[in-house]
Amino acid sequence: MCGIVGYIGHQQAYPIIINGLKRLEYRGYDSAGISLLNREPNIFKCSGKVKDLENLAHGNDLSGNIGIGHTRWATHGEPNDINAHPHISMNGHFIAVHNGIIENYARLKKRLSDRGYKFSTETDTEVLVNLIEYIYLKGKVTAEMAVRLALTKVEGAYGLVVISADEPDRLIAARNSSPLVIGIGEREYFIASDATPIVEYTKSVIYLNDDDVAIISSNELTLKTIGNDKLEPKIHKLNLEIGEIDKNGYEHFMLKEIFEQPRSILDTFRGRVNPKLDEVHLGGLYNVMDSLVNAKRIIIIGCGTSWHAGIVGEYLIEDLARIPVEVEYASEFRYRNPVLYKDDIVIAISQSGETADTLAAIKLAKQAGAMVLGICNVVGSSIPRETHAGVYTHAGPEIGVASTKAFTAQVTVLSMMAILLGKKRNIITSEQYTALIKELYEIPGKIERILGLNDEFKRISELYKDSTNFLYLGRGYCFPVALEGALKLKEISYIHAEGYPAAEMKHGPIALIDEKMPVIVISPKDNSYDKIVSNIQEIKARKGIVIAVISEGDTVIKAMADHVLEIPETDVVFSALLTVVPLQLLSYHIAVMRGCNVDQPRNLAKSVTVE
Ligand code: G6P
Repeated sequence: MCGIVGYIGHQQAYPIIINGLKRLEYRGYDSAGISLLNREPNIFKCSGKVKDLENLAHGNDLSGNIGIGHTRWATHGEPNDINAHPHISMNGHFIAVHNGIIENYARLKKRLSDRGYKFSTETDTEVLVNLIEYIYLKGKVTAEMAVRLALTKVEGAYGLVVISADEPDRLIAARNSSPLVIGIGEREYFIASDATPIVEYTKSVIYLNDDDVAIISSNELTLKTIGNDKLEPKIHKLNLEIGEIDKNGYEHFMLKEIFEQPRSILDTFRGRVNPKLDEVHLGGLYNVMDSLVNAKRIIIIGCGTSWHAGIVGEYLIEDLARIPVEVEYASEFRYRNPVLYKDDIVIAISQSGETADTLAAIKLAKQAGAMVLGICNVVGSSIPRETHAGVYTHAGPEIGVASTKAFTAQVTVLSMMAILLGKKRNIITSEQYTALIKELYEIPGKIERILGLNDEFKRISELYKDSTNFLYLGRGYCFPVALEGALKLKEISYIHAEGYPAAEMKHGPIALIDEKMPVIVISPKDNSYDKIVSNIQEIKARKGIVIAVISEGDTVIKAMADHVLEIPETDVVFSALLTVVPLQLLSYHIAVMRGCNVDQPRNLAKSVTVE
C-alpha cells in the first residue's frame, strides 16, 4: 500500500525513481510524486498514474543524484495533486515520502498549529514532516536526530524516507510496520518498499526492521535504532530475476500469472515432495514438527484470497490429518479477544507477507504464547520474519492486484502440510500417501490442459460481460473456490458477485435467481456430486442460467447446464487447485471486455499495509 523509492549515488536519480515507481505501482496508483535534490529541492506531484507524473515533470530540470518518489493509495485526504507525496515542511527544510498511517496525527497537528504551523494538505504525512522540522529548528539538532526524535512522538505505522536541503548529501529512512528494503550498489544505495525496483541494479539488500533508522550517503550506510543504538546491518542476497517482474509478452500481469500456474505450482513442491520418498520435506517446519504433529488445534489466519486458501487448508488438514482447524479473518481475530492456548498453532497465510491485520494478529498470538507459522510468498517480508517458522510458497513475484498464482501456491503448501501431518499421525497409509503425491505431480499438467481451453472461456465471458450480478456456488473443497471466484470477479470487473456454499442457496440467495443472473456452479465429480446436481436442478427450475465447472466427460450436468467449463478429474482434496483456474480466466476476460484496468483495479492495492 503506497510505494516508496529513493536513490542516492553517482547516477541521475530521476530515471531510477520513475522506473522504480512503475514497478511499485501495483501497491497504489491514485497519485504519484517525486522530489530531486539538486542545488535546490524540487517537487513534482499529481493525482493519477506515474505516467501522468512523467508528463508533468517533462521539460523541467530533472537532474540530481539524490531523490525520493512515491505512488499513493490514499488513507488521509482524497487522492488529488495537493495530497500527493512528497510533502515538504512549512519552512522548506524537509521533504518526506511515507507509507502507513500516523494514528495520533490529529493531536500532533493541533500542537503544531498552536505553535504557528500551517498545513496545506489533509495528510498525516505533512504533520510528520512538520514535526521533524519543528524539532530540528527548536532543538537545533541534526536532521537525523530530528527524524529520530520525531518518530518517538509518533504512534502508528510508517515506512519513511526524508531528505533535507540543509544536509543534501544524505537520505534518512525509517520503518515501523511498513516495509523498506535498501539495495547496496557501488557507491550508491536504492531504497524501496519492496525489492522489485532494486533487482535490476543490485542483489545485495538490507531489510529494515521495526524501529530501524538508516542514514545513507552515497558511500556509507549507518543503521541505528530510533533510540540511537548502533546496529550491524545484515546483508541478504536477493533471489529474484528481472524477467520475473516483466509481463513477458502478456497483455496483463494477471493473465501472465494465471498462465504461470503450472510452473509456479511445480516450483512450490519441487524438492519438497517425491513419490519415492515416504515423507514430504518442508525444511522450514523441521524445528517445529513435533509441536505441529501433536497440535490439539490449528488456527489459520489471513485476509482476502489468503483467507480463502485458509479454508481449503482447514478442509485438507481436518480431512487428511484429523487436527481441528479454525479459520479466521486476521482483522476480526486481532480485535475480538480470541481464546488462545499456549499449545495452539497459528498459521498465518499471506502472499505479500506485509498485510497489517495479519501481522497484528501474529503479534497477538505470539503474546498469548502460541506458536505461529507463516505461509508467505515474498521472501524476506515482515511476516516470515515475525513468525517462529514457516514455508515459502515460491510462486515468484505476483504483480497483478487480483491474486491468482499465489492462491494455488498457498493451497499447494497446505496440501503438502496436510499430507505430511496425515502421514506422521498415521491417519493416511503409505499407499494413500504415495497416491496423493503422484496426483499432486499431475496437477501442473492438468492445469495446462485447462489453460488450453482459454478461448472457450473467453467465448462464454462475452455472453455474460454485461450481467450485473453473479452467484458462485460450491460444496466441500469447492466452497472456498466459490468465494474466490466471486472475489476475482468483484475485484477486477466491479460486477457484484457472491460466493455461497451450494446448500445454503435455499436460505436466501435462491430468491435472487431469475433468467438474467448467471450462477456459476463448481461441480466436479467429487463426494458432493449428487447433492450439487440437485442444486443445479433447483436453479434450472427457477429459470436461472447455469455455468458449471464440471469434470471432463460429465454428461449429466452438461445436459442440464447452459454452459460448461470442463476440467480434468483429480483427487477430491486437490479440487480447488483445478476448479479455480477457469474462474480466474472468466473474471479476467469479463474485466477486459468491460474495459476495466485489470492489473490496477480501482480502490484496491496489492499489499495492504494499513488496517
Ligand atoms: C489485498 C490484495 C488481495 C490479497 C489480500 C491479502 O486485498 O488485493 O489480493 O488477497 O490483500 O494479502 P496477502 O498479501 O496478505 O495475501
